[in-house]
Amino acid sequence: MAKRDERVDQVWVDLQPVGRRISVVPGTTLLEAAQQAGVEIAAVCGGAGSCGKCRIQLMSGELAAPTVSERRFFAEAELQAGYRLACQAPTLTDVKFNIPPESLSTPQRLQIEGEEIEIEPDPTIRVVDLLMDPPALDDLRSDTTRLADTLVNEGLDRPHLGQSVLRSLSDELRAGNWSVRLALHRQDTFTGGVIDFSAGSPISAGYEVVSVLAQGQSPVGLAVDIGTTKMAGYLIDLETGKTLAKDGLMNPQIAYGEDVVSRIAYANQHAGRNPDGRTTLQRALVAGVNDLLGTLCRDAGVERKQVVDAVVVGNTVIHHLFTGLSVAQLGAAPYIAASSEPLSLEATRLGLSMAPGARIYLPPNIAGYVGADHVAMLLATGAWQASEPTIALDIGTNTEISLALGDRVLSCSCASGPAFEGAHIHAGMRAAPGAVEYVQIEEDQLRVRTIEGRPAVGICGSGILDVVAQLRAASVIGPSGRLKPDHKLWQSHIVKWDGGGAFRLVDKADTGNGHDLLVTRQDVNEIQLAKGAIRAGVEVLLAHAGLTHADLHTFIVAGAFGTYLDVKSAINIGMFPPLPLHRFQQVGNAAGTGARQMLISRERRRIAESIVGRVHYIELTAQRSFTDFYMEAMVL
Ligand code: FES
Repeated sequence: MAKRDERVDQVWVDLQPVGRRISVVPGTTLLEAAQQAGVEIAAVCGGAGSCGKCRIQLMSGELAAPTVSERRFFAEAELQAGYRLACQAPTLTDVKFNIPPESLSTPQRLQIEGEEIEIEPDPTIRVVDLLMDPPALDDLRSDTTRLADTLVNEGLDRPHLGQSVLRSLSDELRAGNWSVRLALHRQDTFTGGVIDFSAGSPISAGYEVVSVLAQGQSPVGLAVDIGTTKMAGYLIDLETGKTLAKDGLMNPQIAYGEDVVSRIAYANQHAGRNPDGRTTLQRALVAGVNDLLGTLCRDAGVERKQVVDAVVVGNTVIHHLFTGLSVAQLGAAPYIAASSEPLSLEATRLGLSMAPGARIYLPPNIAGYVGADHVAMLLATGAWQASEPTIALDIGTNTEISLALGDRVLSCSCASGPAFEGAHIHAGMRAAPGAVEYVQIEEDQLRVRTIEGRPAVGICGSGILDVVAQLRAASVIGPSGRLKPDHKLWQSHIVKWDGGGAFRLVDKADTGNGHDLLVTRQDVNEIQLAKGAIRAGVEVLLAHAGLTHADLHTFIVAGAFGTYLDVKSAINIGMFPPLPLHRFQQVGNAAGTGARQMLISRERRRIAESIVGRVHYIELTAQRSFTDFYMEAMVL
């Protein structure tokens, strides 16, 4: 790593959340570095320091002192927090910086699609329209008594009124001229296991007031699937079940670590500070969800007070970091979750700007590395009740795999690494414009397709998977992953490179950054490690059930990367078993679909809670057969 006082020719610039790394000469501004890397930062004034659009946040390393322009745009506290203008900030050492979404002129591809939901709405929220008698000199009941009396007259119990609702109640009743719509949370919703974190409001049969709406206003719910890298949000009309808006955002915690392991480390290393690491990570995530919600509300034309319920799913580490639970114990064997029960939390206490009495429902986790997002995926795909042997997996930095066997489900998690997110790959980047996403070699023809057809600047997960499969099929690489420098057709593409050569996928004359786009021997090795772990996980589960892959009726691939990968390539490199293609289903963001289902249906929440009861979790590191399967599955 280059430090400030060392004389170095080159320093490394790490651009997040894009996941691109580039080496530049010291003194290069961050904007120039981004341009050289092919990452488009908004630069309306062309780098003159006058538009303020190229705002970034430095995460590590050193830059030259802030310029006069920067002092105009940022308060001292912001400069202290690392905020800078990319065009004004030359790098002095290796640096890592985060580009907020508003400063990226070409947004990344975010996974917000998923199967549509066709479920009869039966949400936890009930609305009642009330016409109340206004106060008068001969009717001096307080606002709360008046409200409770009116509800009792409607045949309902006296409701519970939380402090946040109480604070705005009087104004809302008068603004509605005593004709209002109440959104009520049915407190009998949770029958088993839900832990209620609200102060002084034990769960009992009855209702809790969530929000005072105007007559005719629809109650709306928020479903969020928070991934380690990205999050997908959906705003749903709770009466009709219709999706009103959907959008995606990068997980802001990326600035503190690319994967869950580094975030656990951040939370631990910064324990005891003020604010501590865990709080910093929680605030960053809550701010991200608030941003996402703001965009969704704007798109759908609804007010935040209409957002009366939410379901949030994520892996166990994300779940804990979102709710503020300890993650230290997830960082070491035996990787114990702090909580595996479903949770019901008050939105306002968590810092979410929703209706004053809104709650957040988090379905149960299965284990330390198989979280509620996997439960949501099993729910949405129906895999939990598959009558024939079915594999359902969600590929990410950690890949969660389940084998459904009718009455029971075997689940495991394997560390597949960040290679499919573009990390640890020489020219790797996340799925953004200019990323190679598809590669085909036919005879002497090499075909490369990039996202949005832009000149290539890097390669994303589906692209690197294709490359390895195609190079192997063309015998440019052997079963061990070694490049063959004397390959008769592709010899001219094989160049010398540290640690075993590289394949030139795109010539510098055709790339968007003037550098050859190379796939190195090390990249191939990263893919071998990732695909080996995934396949070994599948094989361990099959062996545990006494089955072979030929017994599999269905193979479900969920998640963002799973949507775009080419199943044939995955089979060719041995990541997936060689099944007929019709047995594979690529289902998109099924975890997000599951979250939406739980948002509009109490029954779906009950099923999600029951799924956990039928899962038998298998810790791969405790399985002796895993290493054998892994070594075998590394071969291409
Ligand atoms: Fe305008 Fe940096 S590009 S201020």
